[in-house]
Amino acid sequence: MRMYDMIEKKKKNIPMTTEEMKEMVNAYVAGEIPDYQMSAWLMAVYFQGLEEKELTDFTLQMAHSGKMIDLSPIEGVKVDKHSTGGVGDKTTLAIGPIVAACGEKVAKMSGRGLGHTGGTIDKLEAIPGFKVELTKEKFFENVNQIGISIMGQSEGIAPADKKLYALRDVTATVNSIPLIAASVMSKKLASGSDKILLDVTCGSGAFMKNKEEAVELAKIMVKIGEQAGKETVALITNMDVPLGKFIGNSLEVAEVVELLNGNGSKDLVEVCVALASNMLYLAKKDKEASQTMEQCRKMVEKVIEDGSALRKLIEMVEVQQGDISVIEDTQKFAKADYYYDLVATKGGYVTGMDTEKCGIASMLLGAGRERKEDEIDYSAGLCIYKKTGDKVIVGDTLATLYSNSHETFSRAEKVLREAYEIKEEQVNEEKLVIARVTKDGIEWY
Ligand code: URA
Repeated sequence: MRMYDMIEKKKKNIPMTTEEMKEMVNAYVAGEIPDYQMSAWLMAVYFQGLEEKELTDFTLQMAHSGKMIDLSPIEGVKVDKHSTGGVGDKTTLAIGPIVAACGEKVAKMSGRGLGHTGGTIDKLEAIPGFKVELTKEKFFENVNQIGISIMGQSEGIAPADKKLYALRDVTATVNSIPLIAASVMSKKLASGSDKILLDVTCGSGAFMKNKEEAVELAKIMVKIGEQAGKETVALITNMDVPLGKFIGNSLEVAEVVELLNGNGSKDLVEVCVALASNMLYLAKKDKEASQTMEQCRKMVEKVIEDGSALRKLIEMVEVQQGDISVIEDTQKFAKADYYYDLVATKGGYVTGMDTEKCGIASMLLGAGRERKEDEIDYSAGLCIYKKTGDKVIVGDTLATLYSNSHETFSRAEKVLREAYEIKEEQVNEEKLVIARVTKDGIEWY
């Protein structure tokens, strides 16, 4: 295999063989292919795509480029959940404890945020003392004992994806359907769960900007998962507005506590209940005590109402050595030194939001990393008061910005102001859970 020939093949849309794909991925991980050649290959794939067989080969090869985790020491059915990325997306933090409180096992490896999207591990680290690095044995022990553990993704999982993702991030090749599908599914297949629930986000804050692209990505990922023998379901969810009211690490943890206390904002509750019900449904489906989706939804609502999901979150935090006092009383989270209110200078209705810009504003305040090595300011972020559909009067606070670094405000404020589209006429509310994709087809909501 000569890398030059592989670039030439993809440029001309000629399929690569299984052997060529294998050699290419292995050689890249071994450092034998320079980034400039791999970048050219990625760009060719960006424009030409991959055939179904090539995509399966590429995904499996990436999955096998590192450790394949064996979750069999954990009893019961393990369902993994993965989001293709969002802004204010704190769903894993909420649905993990919900599903565990319903009696199922949640063994979740999560990632950090990069750019405008957040990551579950950064949010968990906003809880003082919380340990995200666990040995495999401790991880299994926690899940077997209390039903849930969330840890940082082990270094050894799909190293090919890790290296390729970093390269895609700087070569404008992230938002390619086959490249995202292979990236997500290689990690999911290597993580050892029995079943997979995908949250394919769609809209201005997501990689997939419209429903058609999101459905195409979902269908491809479901197919890859099913071919690998894992039941895979995808929900298409709306990311045209930030999810919930807060963006930023400790702010989002506090928002999850509010949700588990029964006081979540309507949009966040709707998406979390849909995801948790689907996760539960997958976990229970093949058991004797299988439940319908409606019964699963009722169980989800019940563990929120009776407080058992919140108690499960507290249990997880305690077992992973976090300070539970901030969960019991979220006012105890350290507050940012400075805040700034973004005030409306024009009246009307919010007719649209550039959600990616909301994520960028939050990152600029210190809540995310512009570069991999950047430190996170856990109390930085945004509280969004006005979202798409809301009426606005001149002088209303659209959002409040929080940061420990006063200098961040001018750039963040400018970007956030640009994120708002305010016009005279009101727009209709968009659906939050748009569709459900399984191997049997698409169900539109
Ligand atoms: N999430 C991933 O894990 N990979 C991508 O390529 C995009 C989103």
